[in-house]
Amino acid sequence: MTSVQPADDSLSIEHSTSGKKWELHVEDGCLRATQLRQIPLGQTDLGLLSYDPAFLNTASCRSAITFIDGEAGILDYRGYSIEDLAETATYPEVCFLLLNGELPNESELASFEAELAEEAVLPADMIELFAAFPDNMHPMTMLASGLASLGAKYPEADQVLDEANRKRQIIRLLAKTPALAALVWRRTQNDSPVGASPDKGFIASFLRMLLANPGEDFEVEDSFARAMDALLTLHADHEQNCSTNAVRAVASSHVNPYSAVAAGCFALHGPLHGGANQAVLEMLEEIGTIEAIPDFLEACKCGDRRLMGFGHRVYKNYDPRAKVISGLVESVLDAGQPDPRLEIARALEAIAREDDYFVSRKLFPNVDFYSGILYSSMGFPPSMFTVFFAVGRMVGWLAHWDEMLRDPEQKIARPRQIYTGHSRREVPKMANR
Ligand code: CMC
Repeated sequence: MTSVQPADDSLSIEHSTSGKKWELHVEDGCLRATQLRQIPLGQTDLGLLSYDPAFLNTASCRSAITFIDGEAGILDYRGYSIEDLAETATYPEVCFLLLNGELPNESELASFEAELAEEAVLPADMIELFAAFPDNMHPMTMLASGLASLGAKYPEADQVLDEANRKRQIIRLLAKTPALAALVWRRTQNDSPVGASPDKGFIASFLRMLLANPGEDFEVEDSFARAMDALLTLHADHEQNCSTNAVRAVASSHVNPYSAVAAGCFALHGPLHGGANQAVLEMLEEIGTIEAIPDFLEACKCGDRRLMGFGHRVYKNYDPRAKVISGLVESVLDAGQPDPRLEIARALEAIAREDDYFVSRKLFPNVDFYSGILYSSMGFPPSMFTVFFAVGRMVGWLAHWDEMLRDPEQKIARPRQIYTGHSRREVPKMANR
């Protein structure tokens, strides 16, 4: 097979030995992979396959939700820059935007917040379920299990093709995930749960459920509320990332959304994805002093270690979310104690950004580099960080779930493979194996 010559909106492919030619259509800068099937060069009579492990160069859907230009360090939700949204919009406004395509006006926001408030309380038996979890269960496993179990309360959620029903489940999941996350936190502390106070607003109710003592008044610290609101916004969506791809793939079987977002939680938990914020804090604690940074970076450069919170599949520039969080950290730390880990993180960033290894590979801080320090300064341990990431990302998962089910081109996700195993053979008797 030889040349691929780009024309306006088509490609000619010529087979080098037979001279046979095929004309392939290019649309939106993409080649539809199924066109390759007309070229009879594959392993089976289904024709030529494309091979793209880890989807490095494959668009799996059309989406109007989030735009990323990784080279330029740009992230937009529905056309609005993440920096603008984090600065000027509240998290519920951002949720409305991601789900509906436009920012809400005053009355739309009021009814959206009222719908969320109505669904904010968890079914009572969730508390019994959490009490039965083993003490050493990871918070993300608790959250994912809680979400999957919650689905059992709402059997109508199985009607995924019913648009009105989808909307109900979306509101329910958005409203109840903070309560589940707070229950996770209190279970890890063996503390009694504090119920939602929906009249106080989404973020204040979330912080109360996390931090208040049962039965006591609780004043939400302004800087914490602003930081939590912005963090949830920054985590709200990131187009076809690993966990969103997991949600889409699982939901493509038309399973209920509780099971699909539980799968998203498990994908998010991994240290190469949302679990990196926990790994960053552990790394900063392990490095311990500014003097120890050069040795640690040497270990990263020779492949023994990984600089957690650096690098990204899509961003080959500063992750715009990291920039916003880096600014937020100062405002929250001003309100509390200085954190020596921030000093190490700043020095680590400065040294890495002068180092040819990181510069030549375009490795910059990503969203997780500073977010852990922020959560930690609010009093939470690393094992909780990804839970907060999941609370913010819930809306992105749900927006993609809804978009996928509206898309007539989508089907059950089912990739192909290149088979590298044995050809057909007989099962030998036990004595001959
Ligand atoms: N530390 C040291 N070297 C790195 C790092 C890092 N953090 N990231 C990438 N590299 C090197 C890698 O070894 C490779 O070098 P070489 O070309 O010599 O083999 C080169 O850079 C390209 O890396 P890659 O592994 O091919 O890149 P990828 O796109 O497959 O991986 C990544 C992206 C995020 C998994 C990776 O950068 C990484 O492991 N980073 C640390 C974990 C992390 O912070 N994850 C959070 C991502 S942001 C939150 C989210 O959206 O999930």
